[in-house]
Amino acid sequence: MIKAFLFDLDGVIVDTAVFHYKAWKRLANQLGFDIDEEFNETLKGISRMDSLDAILKHGGISLSQESKDKYAKIKNDWYLELVNKMTVNDILPGVEIFLKETSFLGIKIALGSASKNASLILEKTGIIDLFDAIIDGNHVSRSKPDPEVFLKGAEALGVEKEACVVFEDAFAGIQAAKAAKMRAVGIGSAEVLYNADLITKGLFEMSPSEIITKLL
Ligand code: BG6
Ligand code: MG
Repeated sequence: MIKAFLFDLDGVIVDTAVFHYKAWKRLANQLGFDIDEEFNETLKGISRMDSLDAILKHGGISLSQESKDKYAKIKNDWYLELVNKMTVNDILPGVEIFLKETSFLGIKIALGSASKNASLILEKTGIIDLFDAIIDGNHVSRSKPDPEVFLKGAEALGVEKEACVVFEDAFAGIQAAKAAKMRAVGIGSAEVLYNADLITKGLFEMSPSEIITKLL
């Protein structure tokens, strides 16, 4: 029996994954090196500071904690410039109807995101009220692939983990769902998300009931 859907935010509900990439690339360029899309895949789903650590390692740069805090803030300011322009038009195709149909089926909805900007993004795009619980980067201490964010989501909804389905666009996110003993729907390519139970291009492709039928 499936009782809850837990959604990642960036790349599943909204296309902010592109904004993160742009802001990190700008920072890497300022530090004298570059990052490409393939490397960017490894950053998806992981926290701001863990992402910065991975980027600095990639560029062969070592910094004090003070400088790292400064650069993380610069990146976030650039990212927020893009986020602050967001409207309802930035919700990914099919998301609103998918969430409404999910609710109509009596399935609970939670957000499970590493982002500390999650509530701001849901407010800007006007869909915050569609979520029964929000667990984001302000509530967890361990990044995906650790299952903490999804276990806390299930707990907040009062649903056992075996009855939860996670929707994720990040390899680390699918790993986190699997570590939480939950089913995982990968949003993206089967090449990257090969460990998911089901792959789809986006929430526009299948209805909640079709997904449940395919998973059971
Ligand atoms: C995740 C993104 O949702 O949130 C990561 O996939 C990002 O790319 C992480 O680093 C943290 O986001 P924020 O908004 O707190 O910097
Ligand atoms: Mg994501």
